[in-house]
This record gives sequence, C-alpha cells and structure tokens, in this order.
Amino acid sequence: MTLEWGRHYAMVEPSQFRVDYAINPFMDPAVQPDPQLATAQWQHLVETLRSLGSTVDVVPGRADSPDMVYAMNLGLAILRPEWEGAGRRSMVMSHMRFPQRRNETPSAQRWFETHGFATSYVGREGVGAHFEAGDAFPFGGDLVVGVGPRTDELALKHLAADLGVTVRGVKITHPGMYHLDLAFCPLDERRAIVCPDALEPTSAAALLALVPEPLVITEEEAIGTLCANSVVVGRTVVMPACPPRVREQLEAWGFEVVLVDVSEFHLGGGSIRCLTNPLDITLGRELEAVPGGRVVAPPAEEGFAA
Ligand code: ARG
Repeated sequence: MTLEWGRHYAMVEPSQFRVDYAINPFMDPAVQPDPQLATAQWQHLVETLRSLGSTVDVVPGRADSPDMVYAMNLGLAILRPEWEGAGRRSMVMSHMRFPQRRNETPSAQRWFETHGFATSYVGREGVGAHFEAGDAFPFGGDLVVGVGPRTDELALKHLAADLGVTVRGVKITHPGMYHLDLAFCPLDERRAIVCPDALEPTSAAALLALVPEPLVITEEEAIGTLCANSVVVGRTVVMPACPPRVREQLEAWGFEVVLVDVSEFHLGGGSIRCLTNPLDITLGRELEAVPGGRVVAPPAEEGFAA
C-alpha cells in the first residue's frame, strides 16, 4: 500500500541560506552556495512537489539562522484525529544539538502555533534531551528514531509519552549520516531505503528486521548521492540523484523516480528530505496509538550484555 503521508509539507524560504559554520562533515564555510542557484533549485523542488499534488506551506527564514532552510529539523508534526475540532495538529519542536541552530526553534514555533499547531518540546535552550526531527520517521506503525549524533536516547521516552506511540530507537554511528533521514527513507508500507552502514550493527539488524522489503544502499551511495534523503509522494520518489541499481529496484516495485537537483543545499549537508517537513503523519494511521507510549531502546551493542 502507498504511503498516505507525504502530501503536505512545510518548507523554509531559502533567502538566508549560507554556510556560516561547520556542524557536519559536508559543511565548509570557505565554500558558499550561489544564492541565485540555490533559490532556483528550491523553487524547482516546490514546483515539483506541487505538481505531484502536494501542498507546500512556506515558512519565513531568519537572518541569523542560515540552516533554517532545512525545515525537516524544525520539529515533528503529527495529526491527532482523536483531538476533536480544529486543533488536530501538533508539533514536537526540535531541540537542536548545536547552539548555532537553536534560534530556529522559537521562530518556527510561533509560525506553527499561528497555523493551528499545538506545540510541545522534549528539551529547549540547551536544557534537557536533544531531538532533531530529521531523526524521526513512521514505519510499520512505530516511530523509528535515530539517536547519537543529534538526538539523545532520553528523547525517545518523551516522544513516546507525548505522542502515545511506540518509539523504536536505532543508534547512528556514522559521522556523515548524522540524521536518520540520510540513511532511511520509507517508501511504502513494506519498503524503505536503508543504509545499514550508518548504524551500529545491532541497530542496523533491528531496522532491517522491521522493513519487510528493504532497498539496501551502500555507504558510498548514501554519502555520495544523498539518495536516501528523498521524499515520496504516492508512487513517486523525488530524489536528488539515483544510482542505476537503486532506480532499477524502485521501478521494478512500481515507483517513478523524479530527480530534482538541489546540489547547492548539499553544501550545508542536506538534500530533499532535509528541505521538506511532512505535516500529514497521522496518529492512528501511520502511527499506531499506544496509550502512555512505549519505548524500544536501541539494541545493545555487540559484545555488551543488555
Ligand atoms: N547543516 C544542517 C545541520 O547540520 C543540515 C541539516 C540537514 N537536515 C537533515 N534533515 N538531515 O544541521
């Protein structure tokens, strides 16, 4: 069955995008994006998503937050049909690992609140658990969350309790795949792109066990093309690049691949998924409701007793 989420996105307009600091291995302040090209690429992505029938809401950026364009990291939006009436939208705000990105949150929070979202948080202003929403995706009824470079394991407990879902942690160890969305992309109910090399071996095995039909990619494919950092609209996968082998498998499964060049944004370490934040993940649909919530901690590292 086709994914039902992925038809409504928030994106942050790119006018303030720069590489002012280096908080991931892709970033080098000596190599700046071309503002005109970046804007044109971003516009092309918006138009592509709209032409596929998705809604795109545009959030303003802020001058002191050159990474805010990576809207995926603003927070995790969840629709809650059990909340009656208009206020069915919720968002758990991110608590960024690095202080350079922390100004994004209050601005985003105001925007989401004025657009009908009830907001919450797992930590803020450097206090409490870090959580970056590029680490969190629904799959198989659970919320899969990458912990390590950006998100703390403690955040899993807060997310489970706040949302009332099963949160399944996997441990990220690869410095270049510092968010789960660089290594994992749900494609439909049974399939997902997975880069096991991003994860501790026990976590990689756990994630592969969760996905009935994984499309396994290599570290080189994940880092070299950022092809896991794609978004899925129905049967269409909007990708920054697609290795031939990956395309063959996607097409054999009945997906259509649409390429959108967002190379300027790779200079900041993000691609198509990072630029788009889905607003239609729904509790009781993609995420099974589990009153009180439940955490499945990342499996113990090999060689250590649990
Ligand atoms: N420069 C940003 C950072 O390091 C890139 C964020 C990429 N976003 C993502 N969802 N992976 O935080």
